[in-house]
Order: sequence, then structure tokens, then C-alpha cells
Amino acid sequence: PGQFKARLTAGPATVRFAEGLDTPILGYNGMSPGPLIEAVEGDRVEITFANRIPDEASTIHWHGMPVPADQDGNPMDPVETGIDRSYSFELPEGSAGSYWYHPHPHGRTAEQVYRGLAGVFLVKPGTDPIPAAYGDTVLVFTDLRLAADGTLPDNTMTDLMNGRVGDHVLVNGQRNPALTVPFGTKRRFRLYNATNARFLRLSFDGAPMTIIGTDGGLLEAPVAADDILLSPAERLEVIVSFEKPGPATLYTLDYDRGWMGAGRPADAGLTLLTVHVSQTPAEPVPPLPDRLRPIARLGAPSISRRFVFTETMAMNANGMEMGFLINGAAFDMGRVDIVAKQGEVELWEIVNEADMDHPFHVHGTQFQVVEHERDGKVSKAPYLAWKDTVNVTRGETVRLLLRQDRPGPRMYHCHILEHEQLGMMGIVDVR
Ligand code: C2O
Ligand code: CU
Ligand code: CU
Repeated sequence: PGQFKARLTAGPATVRFAEGLDTPILGYNGMSPGPLIEAVEGDRVEITFANRIPDEASTIHWHGMPVPADQDGNPMDPVETGIDRSYSFELPEGSAGSYWYHPHPHGRTAEQVYRGLAGVFLVKPGTDPIPAAYGDTVLVFTDLRLAADGTLPDNTMTDLMNGRVGDHVLVNGQRNPALTVPFGTKRRFRLYNATNARFLRLSFDGAPMTIIGTDGGLLEAPVAADDILLSPAERLEVIVSFEKPGPATLYTLDYDRGWMGAGRPADAGLTLLTVHVSQTPAEPVPPLPDRLRPIARLGAPSISRRFVFTETMAMNANGMEMGFLINGAAFDMGRVDIVAKQGEVELWEIVNEADMDHPFHVHGTQFQVVEHERDGKVSKAPYLAWKDTVNVTRGETVRLLLRQDRPGPRMYHCHILEHEQLGMMGIVDVR
């Protein structure tokens, strides 16, 4: 087993998007997205986190990764400004997947993420069933809003209600980057929605796409897809076949996620990536295997739990009061919401009784979505997969199986980060 060591320093950085204007942001090691971390199953990881954000506590949360609770950057474990701490954990066999890291301090997660703090953590398997000739290209989507003076404006009431959706969608920190490939080749892409609140329905114009993996690694078998939906925090791995010369673009389609009030951003027709498929034919690439890896279905649950998401809006003397609640309660860091037994399979039923979609996420483990129910109609999950975030559309119930294998408190929450901040979060204590 290898040793993986790195240092991540969070602090002020600048980018230039507006003509002649520097935008002050936050970065890890001066970059946004932060440095791409790539480790291998079995590695022992040790990351020193240096918080150099002026006057603000922070943490690093390892989104989706099987790390001990006290190494997971929970809001209960803040790292004050000027302090270094180390996070250490082991990557078990079978944990290969497309994870990410971002801050999770109490009340400030949303802001620190939209200011630029997020990065990719890839865990590679010892032997990869996907042909190396396809490459392995990470595409991280973030979005940015710029004020006229080039700075990042504060959240408005609309941002708090819907989550903050930026004006410019960036891919690996750039606007509409381009790449060139020979025709007849295939490419592997890992798509990350690292935005606070933007839903991305994506398609590849002129090149067929096949889904091979989700948040927690490869599927059992590839699944063809015309378009895909990535809700905030979700990831997908796809293979794209570039079969004819000319441009192929990754672009957005319309998706109605339930917008409250005016100012719904136009989400269709944005070009995120342009691939120039050259006239030169590729060296022949090996075919995509039919079977990728076995996934063991989680067994019968020993308990089932229900989580009901609601929103409340009320006008009072202070203006609009908004509540984003789970089972009628807003998050309280001093309260344990549920107690679960280590190693036991549970059925979680996530019920969305609110007016917009809420992507549900739980820390410390990967789960398996069983079914979706809407208007009394039940539909099975389209494929067996490991996930840590699932979109729950308005009026829908999602049932999933999960098992927490490590003790300690874990967060579960809506990954529209403004909703998480306003209370749509709870703590499951695993004992
Ligand atoms: Cu992306 Cu509580 O996490
Ligand atoms: Cu997480
Ligand atoms: Cu939400």
C-alpha cells in the first residue's frame, strides 16, 4: 500500500474574467478548482490543511469518501484561521470513484464554495477495466457571478430561496475550453457538478455518450444516454465516441427544477466544452468492455426511516423568513437527529413536499437508490449504482438503501448549499 501526502492551503486568490478587472476569490493552493488529487485504492492518505482564509473558520470535507467521522471535516470540527491540521484516512479496496473535497464550516459552507473552494479527489483502482487509450479527463462545473466592479456580490433573497446560481458556467475554471481529438476515438470524461445550486442537463452534440459510472465508481455495465441530469454535487463518468470529423459540443438543455419567484436563469443552450474532432483518424482503440465490475446489492434493511423535506416562507417585520426543514426541524449542531447502528442496512425514504427539487446527500458512505415514487407510481432505479447524492424532485419520494460502516456523527443534507445553510441538514450518529 502506498502513502499519499499533500498540503492544501485555503486562502485568498484572484482570477480575471471581467475585462481588466481582478476578481478576488478563495482557492486551494491559489487555484479554483483546487489541485486535482489522485490516489489509488489501498493508499494511506495524509493531507495537511492550512486555513489561511482571513477571519474565517473552515474545514475540508471529503465528499463521498469512506473516511472516519472525525477526519471528515464536519461543521463540529472547525479549523480556525491561521491553524494547520492533518486529515488522515485509508482508501479501502473497492473504493475507486469520483469524489471531491470542499469546505463544510458551520453556516459558511455555501459562501466558501461559491467563492471558489472545491476540488476533485479521484481514487483509482489497482487495475482499471476502462481502456487507458480513452484517457481520463475531469470536467468540473462551477459557476460564478460577477458584479460590475469584478467582485463577487453577496447573496440576494432569490439566491437564498433557490440557491445561488452564477452567471458564468466554468469548466475547470475556464469558459468554454476546447480540446482536439482524432476521429474514431473514444474519451472518458468525469463530469462534476460543483456548483452551489445549478442543475445541469447535458448532452453531447454530434457524439454518442455512454454512462459508465456514478458518484461512487463504475456501474456493472455501460448504459447508453442521450442526455444526463447532474444535480448539485452529483458526478457521472461517461464515454464519448467521436465518430466523425468536425466540432462536437457539450451543451446544456432546459431543466425545470422548480424556481421560486422571478429571475429564473436561462439554463438551456450554454456551450460548456468544444471538442474539435480532427480529420486525422485515430489509432484503433479497444472496445468498451460489456461488464465493468460486479456491484453487490445491499441486503434487506433492518429499519426504515422517513425524511420529509419542506420549505416555509413567511412575511414578518424583518422581511421574508425562510425555513428549509427536514421532518419539520431546522439543523441544530447540538442535536443528534437519528442514531444508526454501524454495519446495519437501512432503508431511507426521502420525501420532497416542497416546491423545488432538493438533491439529497449523506456523508461517510455510498448508497443504492431502489426506486422513485411520484403520484402513486413507482419506478425502479434505472441501474444499480453507488451514489452519495440523489436528486429528489418536487412531489417525489426516493427510497434508498444504505449502510454506515464507521462510527461517529455524519451529516445528511440538501446539496443546494444555501438550503443546507438555512437548515436543511441533520445528524445521524452511527454507533
Ligand atoms: Cu458535499 Cu455535506 O457535503
Ligand atoms: Cu459530503
Ligand atoms: Cu434544497
